[in-house]
Amino acid sequence: MPKKTNLKKKIKKIFLKKGLSLDHSKKCADALINAELVGAYGHGLSRLKMYCDRISRKLINPKPKIKIKKISQSISHIDADNCIGFVAADIAIKKAIQNAKKTGIGLVAVKNSGHYGLSGYYAEQAVKKNLITMIFTNAPPAIAPHGALKSLFGTNPICFGSPSGSKAPFILDTSISMINRGKIRYAEKNNEKIPQGVALDKFGKPTIEPRKALEGVQLPIASYRGSGFAWMVDILSGVLTGSNHSGKVKDPFVDFSGPQNVGHLFLTFKSNLFQKNYISRMKDNIRTIKKLPKLKGIKRILYPGENKYLRYKKNSKKNISIKKNIQRDIKKLLAN
Ligand SMILES: NC(=O)c1ccc[n+]([C@@H]2O[C@H](COP(=O)([O-])OP(=O)(O)OC[C@H]3O[C@@H](n4cnc5c(N)ncnc54)[C@H](O)[C@@H]3O)[C@@H](O)[C@H]2O)c1
Repeated sequence: MPKKTNLKKKIKKIFLKKGLSLDHSKKCADALINAELVGAYGHGLSRLKMYCDRISRKLINPKPKIKIKKISQSISHIDADNCIGFVAADIAIKKAIQNAKKTGIGLVAVKNSGHYGLSGYYAEQAVKKNLITMIFTNAPPAIAPHGALKSLFGTNPICFGSPSGSKAPFILDTSISMINRGKIRYAEKNNEKIPQGVALDKFGKPTIEPRKALEGVQLPIASYRGSGFAWMVDILSGVLTGSNHSGKVKDPFVDFSGPQNVGHLFLTFKSNLFQKNYISRMKDNIRTIKKLPKLKGIKRILYPGENKYLRYKKNSKKNISIKKNIQRDIKKLLAN
């Protein structure tokens, strides 16, 4: 099992070799290792080869000229120049934090970006500064709009973060699909099955085969409600920002016809805007909910984000275990 620091150095080196700056390479390595540590394997090192392939094919720009347009003291619009999504998202959340610190509220839209991994990773940065945040990104077609026969919406995650008054931030970070597409890709790569009830094949039949699910349709959470959430995220991330939308975000694994042009939206605001004692009110809120009588088999009620925080803490103490095929990818990418 590779040590975290060694692994991070290797990943950074791979991105440096691909032409990214030291700062950008470090940002990519940090985000990928974080995904491994929180157990989001579908958004971690299993995607490393894909990013590198897209850089080699000039679909991700390793030396972007990122433009930040000031619209007001609170609002900024970023043209990410087709850089890797991790870099665009990191710049955007930092700008949104800066804007909120100045005026109470920050809104940052990003166009010409790519897949940035976990929304919650960026939400944590804002929450650490005592801000509430909402983050949206669109993604390549995976889900059929309610009533349609064809995939169009991405798994379009919705993320809400807030200080909780304790070390684990409150971060609801959920894709609107029954499971996220990364998990299906991960299952495919590792010859595993996917759960029942999360996808249909291209003929509309339920499937547990990841390949068939990728060719077919993923199911949204909660039927037409989930489809509506996915649509909302496509509007906020795509239509509003100037990015691809309505099914035009390119699938980074299979579509090499151009850059992805993913869009993101970052909203941040001070948590004490209306009530000076927001944190004690949050603590009271969480305490009340945690004290509720529990269902059989449930030891404790967790708030969103608490499970990931606990997993991160536990995994941080160990070395990272990575699958053989990913180890091979890393070795090859270092050798090239
Ligand atoms: N960039 C992209 O294109 C993209 C697309 C889809 C998903 N993602 C990312 O993938 C990640 C995983 O998404 P997911 O939908 O599989 O998340 P998930 O199903 O693992 O978790 C969803 C939410 O539920 C909470 N949760 C889980 N178990 C809980 C429990 N027992 N009690 C209370 N809350 C609980 C989690 O903390 C999280 O906030 C997210 O970070 C998301 O941003 C990214």
